[in-house]
Amino acid sequence: MIENIKKQFEEFEKQIGNASSESDVLALKGSVMGKGSAIAEAMKSMKSLSIEDKKVIGPYANKIKHEMFSLIQNRLDQLERIKINDKLEKNKIDITHLDSISYDKKSIGSFHPVNIVQDKIEDIFISMGFEILDGPHIEDEFHNFEALNIPADHPARDMQDTFWFKTKNGLKRLLRTHTSTIQVRGMMERTPPFRFIAPGKVFRCERTDASHEMVFHQLEGMFVDKNVTVGNLIYFMKTLLSEIFEKDVEVRLRPGFFPFVEPGFELDIKCLICNGHGCSVCKKVGWVELLPCGMVHPNVLEAGGVDSKKYNGFAFGLGLDRLVMMKYGIDDVRHIHGADLRFLKQFINQ
Ligand code: FA5
Repeated sequence: MIENIKKQFEEFEKQIGNASSESDVLALKGSVMGKGSAIAEAMKSMKSLSIEDKKVIGPYANKIKHEMFSLIQNRLDQLERIKINDKLEKNKIDITHLDSISYDKKSIGSFHPVNIVQDKIEDIFISMGFEILDGPHIEDEFHNFEALNIPADHPARDMQDTFWFKTKNGLKRLLRTHTSTIQVRGMMERTPPFRFIAPGKVFRCERTDASHEMVFHQLEGMFVDKNVTVGNLIYFMKTLLSEIFEKDVEVRLRPGFFPFVEPGFELDIKCLICNGHGCSVCKKVGWVELLPCGMVHPNVLEAGGVDSKKYNGFAFGLGLDRLVMMKYGIDDVRHIHGADLRFLKQFINQ
């Protein structure tokens, strides 16, 4: 009996490695463990064996049975792994190799033109030692107006039509009308000298046209140190524009009034949509208001916790959407938020 079991087991050991599917393995299992197999026959005849034979044959048959079970399970696991590897091999996708993906290339997304230009400006300013700051869209009067030298009832509040609202507990709040709010937050959180830029969305309740949106982007900049001059301000503005346009662009600097700077300037760019001849973007004047700036008013430095007798500085508030329009020849600011895929698709390779 032992001889039969041993023979069948040796035969089984040779065959199990060749079983090439789950059903082959299960068929083999039936033939070596099922009805009529040496093991099954030995088990069946146990009750008629002598005690001595039982003591030898019983444990031997059990040991072989366990070995068979474990070889069967191993072979099943092995076949499962082969199946998974085959599947992975067949469906292999090299995500670094765009041509291997079989989808419509028209569906590939692109960066938004505002983000493309914003990223470039961030790189330029990071290379000049500036930090990049962020701030909340929902603001209070203090950060949007008072700390910027625009007290309640000051006529300058009307320069920016504001979306006001009240919170559940009756607090007066607004959607920030400019990124200058981040000047205030930036000053309060650091000690001079410091320099930072702060890009973001701003909101104004105004009629839209080719150069005016209700939601648009600005990029604030602030530089505070000892003995900062208008010459420093002009240097940074020139560097920004020449790196963004990668060509000479005509600009003009004229006096501008903003309560938070003194002196204040308007930096305009010759309209690149009409080459200065006059169009709907520049309102027929040939110049586009782009980069208001100036030397920070001492009241603003003091409100931000900076000693205005020791330190001074400059600030600017770039109209980011208008810069994007000039860079790419976009003739209406409303395209920028229009989410029209035909418009956005043009920036895939930028
Ligand atoms: C301001 O918002 C000031 N906070 C800028 C500033 C900062 C001045 C620091 C001095 C020092 P103004 O309202 O002019 O200024 O807006 C700045 C720029 O945003 C404009 O020159 C223009 O390029 C852009 N802009 C203004 N209104 C709109 C609008 N409705 N749609 C698109 N762009 C706009």
